[in-house]
Amino acid sequence: MKDPFEGITEQLFENKHVLEEDYDPETILEREAEIEAYRNALKDILFGRTPSNIFIYGKTGVGKTAVTRFMMDALQTQVEGRTAADRLTVLFHNCNNDSAYGTLRAFINTLRSPSEPTFPKKGLSTSDALEEFYALLDERGGTFLLVLDEIDHLAKVNSLLYEIPRARSNGNLKRAKIGVIGISNNYRFRDSLSPKVKGTLMEKELSFSPYDADELRTILSHRAEKAFIEGGYKQSAIALCAAKAAQDTGSARQALDLLSTGGDIAEDRGEDIVTDEHIRDAETRVQRGRVRNKIQDQTPHGQLILEAIARLEANEKTPVRSKTIQSTYERVANRWQTEPLSSLRSVQDHLSELKMLGFLSRTERNDGRAGGAYYEYELAMDANAVFTARKEIEHEEPTT
Ligand SMILES: Nc1ncnc2c1ncn2[C@@H]1O[C@H](COP(=O)(O)OP(=O)(O)OP(=O)(O)O)[C@@H](O)[C@H]1O
Ligand SMILES: [Mg+2]
Repeated sequence: MKDPFEGITEQLFENKHVLEEDYDPETILEREAEIEAYRNALKDILFGRTPSNIFIYGKTGVGKTAVTRFMMDALQTQVEGRTAADRLTVLFHNCNNDSAYGTLRAFINTLRSPSEPTFPKKGLSTSDALEEFYALLDERGGTFLLVLDEIDHLAKVNSLLYEIPRARSNGNLKRAKIGVIGISNNYRFRDSLSPKVKGTLMEKELSFSPYDADELRTILSHRAEKAFIEGGYKQSAIALCAAKAAQDTGSARQALDLLSTGGDIAEDRGEDIVTDEHIRDAETRVQRGRVRNKIQDQTPHGQLILEAIARLEANEKTPVRSKTIQSTYERVANRWQTEPLSSLRSVQDHLSELKMLGFLSRTERNDGRAGGAYYEYELAMDANAVFTARKEIEHEEPTT
């Protein structure tokens, strides 16, 4: 039998990693105004002053993390060349689903030398962790910047943001200076903080706007040159990715994802140039993947209930009451060899959840005294998209 891998060569990508999420771009393009504002917010550090607290806001994929990394590297280099500046330590943490304690623990472990034991996961309080953290900062001395990325996902954020900015005035920190950089894509994050915290934080705010098509084209072109072999893509394909992402979210991540998926599709088809057609197909594939991931995140019964409503929708039976959904759901569950939930109440709980997440829409009806008030549900997405995703999740070949 012939070797199935024989003859496969890289004929399109020169370095595909350049288009991936974990690639650190060596240059930041199209964010001059944001970089300038960032620079001004950070400049105190160059003169050995206490750093300002900074909050960065902006939607997903607009370069908040990338620009922050770039700025921190540049700042570190500057500080090393200036005598007025104190030694700088930047501590990064992604707060996604972490607690104040977990965040402090991560910082402590970074600061401790590798020969020391790690800070315990359990058994101590957040104030114990703060005490140890301050002790380590004072031991090392200099200026510290704590970058709290995705800070809106940090549980008990108030306790940290109240304590840390007051550490010096409270006498908890003697030698070290400390500033917090919070990054969030929730513009209402500040409003969610307690009044006490808002009063002490005194932060500078920077806002990152979505990219337009021209800006995305610049960013993509730069990456594409490194990612693909010469002549491996059409300029129009780059422009199309930029236009589509600009129209949708203005996210560089989305634009890069389209381009990289377009490259995959071209490569799979054995073609040696990425064209507009590949990008259009990539868009369909990316969208399908997005729907599938969103559905896959639901509990098994949540998925079955969603599939039940999709069936009712496809048969033009919607809007529909929860009782009818329940009986369809029972049939769907049987089809997937799953024991259905038995109470209407638990089906209704799933319906509320699915509604909250935007899968369904719900209307309140009132039949007057006789019927009372009740809800009717409709699918808020394409029924075929649900069927395809469900089949993929269950590893059945999609037929649609
Ligand atoms: N101005 C830019 N120049 C070069 N690459 C960029 C630029 N902006 C964003 N990128 C790239 O786009 C992707 C997304 O950017 P980044 O992770 O910084 O977004 P973000 O604003 O932090 O999004 P999220 O809120 O989802 O965390 C990354 O791969 C990043 O390298
Ligand atoms: Mg980010």
